[in-house]
Amino acid sequence: MANVVVVGAQWGDEGKGKIVDWLSEQADVVVRFQGGHNAGHTLVIGGKVYKLSLLPSGVVRPNKLSVIGNGVVLDPYALAGEVERLAEQGVSITRENLRVAENATLILSIHRELDALRESGSAGTKIGTTKRGIGPAYEDKAGRRAIRLMDLADLGSLPEKVDRLLTHHNALRRGFGLEEFSPKAIYEELASVAPKVLPYMDAVWRLLDDERRAGKRILFEGAQGALLDVDHGTYPFVTSSNTVAGQAATGSGLGPGAVGYVLGIAKAYTTRVGEGPFPTELFDETGELIGQKGKEFGVVTGRKRRCGWFDATLVRQTVRTSGIDGIALTKLDILDGFKTIKIGVGYRLDGETLDYFPASQGAQARVEPIYEEMEGWSGSTAGARSWADLPAQAIKYVRRVEELIGAPVAVLSTSPERDDTILMKNPFEG
Ligand code: IMO
Ligand code: MG
Repeated sequence: MANVVVVGAQWGDEGKGKIVDWLSEQADVVVRFQGGHNAGHTLVIGGKVYKLSLLPSGVVRPNKLSVIGNGVVLDPYALAGEVERLAEQGVSITRENLRVAENATLILSIHRELDALRESGSAGTKIGTTKRGIGPAYEDKAGRRAIRLMDLADLGSLPEKVDRLLTHHNALRRGFGLEEFSPKAIYEELASVAPKVLPYMDAVWRLLDDERRAGKRILFEGAQGALLDVDHGTYPFVTSSNTVAGQAATGSGLGPGAVGYVLGIAKAYTTRVGEGPFPTELFDETGELIGQKGKEFGVVTGRKRRCGWFDATLVRQTVRTSGIDGIALTKLDILDGFKTIKIGVGYRLDGETLDYFPASQGAQARVEPIYEEMEGWSGSTAGARSWADLPAQAIKYVRRVEELIGAPVAVLSTSPERDDTILMKNPFEG
């Protein structure tokens, strides 16, 4: 029996929420292992819509254990807020169904402010972040000055840690010509939220290892997408964590053997929020139409997503960097009714043809996509629940995608409703 890790195979917003929710029914434990509340995962269950940012998608189902791993950056106020919002929707979250790694790094108000400050400034590169403080918090983690969840349980030694953190941040503040942060205010911010988050604290590495040994099924829920990975993505236009499947182990405290089947989620076209290269981006009515039909607005920030054709070269690359065993292809129905559909199959750069995405920022900005054009289909794929329900040309499109990316389509999702799914292979059956 394999554990399953779900990762985005593009730039995020691939429809991971629905697939994770659908898989979580078969899982005992659902684990977040990177990112933070920059994620926006929408679940539609029995007509009821749940929007999650930080909590693992398993929390909305009874008898599932949800775990926030050490690889996540945790805004304690965002956690408390999300728990409250879910309570209003009738979902109760207690230590029984949620545990948070004691060694998870905290996002503080100073991180949110710094993130927003950099994004609004004229200096430096604007990334188009979610302004949630994700990047600055990971910087402090790597800089060995972060406050971690367990530090809230030891308020006596907290002032010393806050001072160390502020030595760095106040130097930055002075550089920006801004007022310095007061250690007392930061201490109070932390002390006041501590009782709301400490009840969930646990040694997650040990808990997960016990669960694994007891034969429980673990689902690792990735956020963002492989092209936003800090190493393998379109650097510097990336998020600040590793989003590839290998991070599931590191970010939860298990060995690489604990991660079984890797399911990559990809949209039948491509979207991106924020700045950065996007070779198959469309600036015409077709792009507008895809955005409208696909309701391509961010869950977290409400921003309009950039839209374009499916880029098989990019997904083929993420199939390799994440070791993807199978793909869940989502939102195929958005392509219903197009006369012709294009797929990016390579790039042209300075007179040369490339079958991969080059690593340098300059080259990434300059590549021109090479397209293959396919006939579209006039019938509808929306809500299809078997291959027999699909127009022949739609099947052809899926088959061509598989061929080009070098991975099979294990799951085909045909609407936001969880049952509108065609299953070729159950990831939990390895
Ligand atoms: P889900 O899990 C899409 C993007 C931001 C920005 C870059 C860095 O819903 O797929 P950050 O705030 O992380 O420092 O921003 O990453 N980004 C996402 N794009 N979906 C997400 O999450 C994203 N999380 C971050 O737009 O370009
Ligand atoms: Mg999103």
